[in-house]
Amino acid sequence: MIACNVETGDTVTIERVGVVGGGLMGSGIAEVSAKAGADVVMMEVNAEVAEKSLGRIDKSLARAVERGKLEEAEKAAILDRLNVTTDLGDMADRQLVVEAVTENEDLKKQIFTSLDEIVADDDAILASNTSSIPITRLAAATNRPDHVVGMHFFSPVPVMALMELVTTVMSDEGVEDRAQAFAEEIGKTVIRAQDRAGFVVNMLLVPYWLAAIRMYEAGIASKEDIDTGMKLGANHPMGPLELADFVGLDVTKFVADVLFDEYKEPLYASPPLLTRMVEAGLLGRKSGRGFYNYT
Ligand code: CAA
Repeated sequence: MIACNVETGDTVTIERVGVVGGGLMGSGIAEVSAKAGADVVMMEVNAEVAEKSLGRIDKSLARAVERGKLEEAEKAAILDRLNVTTDLGDMADRQLVVEAVTENEDLKKQIFTSLDEIVADDDAILASNTSSIPITRLAAATNRPDHVVGMHFFSPVPVMALMELVTTVMSDEGVEDRAQAFAEEIGKTVIRAQDRAGFVVNMLLVPYWLAAIRMYEAGIASKEDIDTGMKLGANHPMGPLELADFVGLDVTKFVADVLFDEYKEPLYASPPLLTRMVEAGLLGRKSGRGFYNYT
């Protein structure tokens, strides 16, 4: 099959893509890659979770068909280009592998060490979608640190137009350029950031969420008014508390902790309310309750 971008008709330069982790981010990355014409293998821990990831992609594509953005036949062709596996060994022939597992540094390092052994093409790009773990540490877990970059997508991946390309002191310029070209081919605008906690977007966005949580905790305004204020007063699609719920309060706290650890500035310190909510299992949309109730 000739790999071809459904929107532009261009051939994608990287035709075989692997995605490790089929959660919200991973399945989104797999979806947009397959949509652009790449052959995609997505890995999950077991068959049940892999089916769930495929179901999420099917639903997202069905939504695009319903809205008249995609033909039913194109949807079928995209799903045809998507395979799920529970074996990391199936990444052997990939030209680009994007790791998108949970934010656990040891797990990510293990995956990078294994991918280094598994992926046959010395020129393949190994990328991480991490929003907070230094790419340099993941690169150092391989014998090809020059081929490791960060490719940080935003949620929901099919909708959000940005990809942050994170380069390190070890990454090869040609590898960075190929990663950027691929992201552009799948429809993303690319900004580049050095390997510092938060990169560009989270370094600005997370302290804003934390400020909103502090404002709510101090009783300055209700959560609804804080969110409405930023939606109508600053034209943001979601208010900060709503958005923190959407991304996950555990993720929000994790990124805040990483930022605090790196810069030691109070503006990145997790407010006590956020810490308590995460300890209580109130993680936002995914747990059914965060600042708002979703049950
Ligand atoms: N898959 C595919 N398409 C989707 C989608 C999904 N999961 N979710 C929404 N869409 C599409 C819809 O089809 C619709 O498209 P059209 O209008 O062209 O038909 C469009 O997006 C808007 O969707 P809805 O009308 O259903 O809902 P909405 O207008 O309320 O928008 C939203 C939903 C796109 C999520 C919007 O609220 C938004 O942009 N929110 C902000 C998201 C954001 O800031 N994300 C970044 C989080 S930070 C992050 O990810 C980084 C990190 O490291 C923590």
